[in-house]
Amino acid sequence: MTVPLEGFHAVKHALRFAPELVTGVRVRGLDAARTLARSLAPDVTELLLAAATVGEVAHHTGVEATGEIPPRDSSVLTYRQEPLVLLDRPRSPGNAGAVIRVAAAAGASGVAMTGPLDPWHATVVRGSAGLHYALPVLSVLAAEVSGPIVVLDAAGDTAASLPPDAVLVVGSERSGVGPEWCERADAVLALPMRAGVSSLNLATATAAALYRRR
Ligand SMILES: C[S@@+](CC[C@H](N)C(=O)[O-])C[C@H]1O[C@@H](n2cnc3c(N)ncnc32)[C@H](O)[C@@H]1O
Repeated sequence: MTVPLEGFHAVKHALRFAPELVTGVRVRGLDAARTLARSLAPDVTELLLAAATVGEVAHHTGVEATGEIPPRDSSVLTYRQEPLVLLDRPRSPGNAGAVIRVAAAAGASGVAMTGPLDPWHATVVRGSAGLHYALPVLSVLAAEVSGPIVVLDAAGDTAASLPPDAVLVVGSERSGVGPEWCERADAVLALPMRAGVSSLNLATATAAALYRRR
């Protein structure tokens, strides 16, 4: 199974974290690709150019590729040294991608998702800028996940802590965190908001919780 890597940043991240999974690198022009890579990602410039063929590229950066979807890595569901982000039934592929991007940046151990959204859908990969390749990203059933459960919810406790091996459960856009997670929760962490604001976006809330811990 493969996924399109649309644009320079997605290709760059995939080449940096999992070069063996990147195929079919296409660039609109070698000189333009070399200039872009040298200025934004000198570490992958040679890799990019060595793999590239020149052809039609739709993306405005003039770079695209194809990524193999890695084998499912479920080890992170039971053992980890950094929090696992668990998105409970996310609806928006863009939100899910943005969560993967910040989870990778903040050093989370992985991103798991319940519900029907395919975490490797092309639109999710577009939203993560290819950072799917920096950490395990997988669909799960709630029963597969173990460890301290920290639910992220605006009605929780602003002083709750996030242990290093926690499962940080982030709710869906419309209905928040499901009751099965609230029943299993060891803590419910709230991010304080000004009066009148009802919630943060999923990726913003995930970012605040992960960076608060760091
Ligand atoms: C857009 S919000 C969901 C809003 C939803 N209407 C609800 O009832 O919770 C998506 C998720 O982001 C997290 N979140 C958003 N704002 C938060 C806050 N201030 N404190 C803690 N978690 C928050 C929660 O996990 C929430 O379920």
